[in-house]
Amino acid sequence: MQNVHDVLTTEEGQRAFAHWRLAGLDRLECELEAQLSCALMPPARLHEAVRYAVFGGGKRLRPLLCQASGVALGADRQALDTVGAAVEMVHISSLVYDDLPAMDDDSLRHGRPSVHIQFDEATAILAGSALLTQAFMTLRHTPIPPARQALLMETLARAAGPDGLCGGQMLDLDSLGSVIGLPVLNLMYQMKTGALIRAAVRMGALCAEPSDADLEALDRYATAIGLAFQVVDDILDVTQDSATLGKTAGKDAQDHKPTYVSVFGLDPSRRLARLLNEQAHAALAGFDARATYLRELADQIVNRLH
Ligand code: IPE
Ligand code: IPE
Ligand code: MG
Ligand code: MG
Ligand code: MG
Repeated sequence: MQNVHDVLTTEEGQRAFAHWRLAGLDRLECELEAQLSCALMPPARLHEAVRYAVFGGGKRLRPLLCQASGVALGADRQALDTVGAAVEMVHISSLVYDDLPAMDDDSLRHGRPSVHIQFDEATAILAGSALLTQAFMTLRHTPIPPARQALLMETLARAAGPDGLCGGQMLDLDSLGSVIGLPVLNLMYQMKTGALIRAAVRMGALCAEPSDADLEALDRYATAIGLAFQVVDDILDVTQDSATLGKTAGKDAQDHKPTYVSVFGLDPSRRLARLLNEQAHAALAGFDARATYLRELADQIVNRLH
């Protein structure tokens, strides 16, 4: 069999990845539309805010990871599309909350006014909550047996809750203006960002018939890229401008937020991101060419510019 790196370094491999990605993004938009189709019912303002948040841009990284993980194990495509949409809803809800004045107080997201600026704070809180709950309704529509659906719901709930995203956001807010050590920094990143990325990868795998070894290896991959993702987010906050990011650049320093960049500096943070990418690739060593998309997504996470 051809080496997976060789596959991707060929023009044909790159074209195949680009094609797969665009097709996956198209299906995701359709799935999100279908799952949020109650938008024509009242209260119109809430649905408008939800749609504004969901269809306002974004890299859609988590659904792509979910799809790529499922592809690596031969999962059903429709199941992956539905699960990816659910994970994206949780992600978008976290962005709506993250921008609120009580949290990062950020007025720019995806190159447009944040939801609470475009609408108002109460509407933003309700839109975030609507998306968070709609995510679980969406999982209920996944075409897989109910026991497997329950496992997906548990995985997503854990990632979004106090042991994951919510807890991580609390640590993040608690850390403002203080000096924190590496263990807390790591924990904060793994919880606020890593947990949902790990869930996306695991949930894609759960749409197939994963072995314990598959799940363990994919989790090592996801843990590495989850941390890398936030490290790169912090690097970009320092190195890019708001127009490129579509969100306010320099916000972390402005808020006196401890990050890998503020604690260790830019170059060590870049080296860490590269090391984590190598770890992610190593975790996939036992997978065949069907894991190519996961490998490519890891590279994109580390090399991205926004
Ligand atoms: C931003 O995530 C929040 C973090 C976890 C750093 P993304 O950069 O994936 O957000 P969008 O959806 O692509 O804008
Ligand atoms: C992201 O942290 C964590 C979330 C769960 C949203 P950030 O606060 O760094 O995310 P951005 O930079 O605003 O997207
Ligand atoms: Mg934040
Ligand atoms: Mg923020
Ligand atoms: Mg950030």
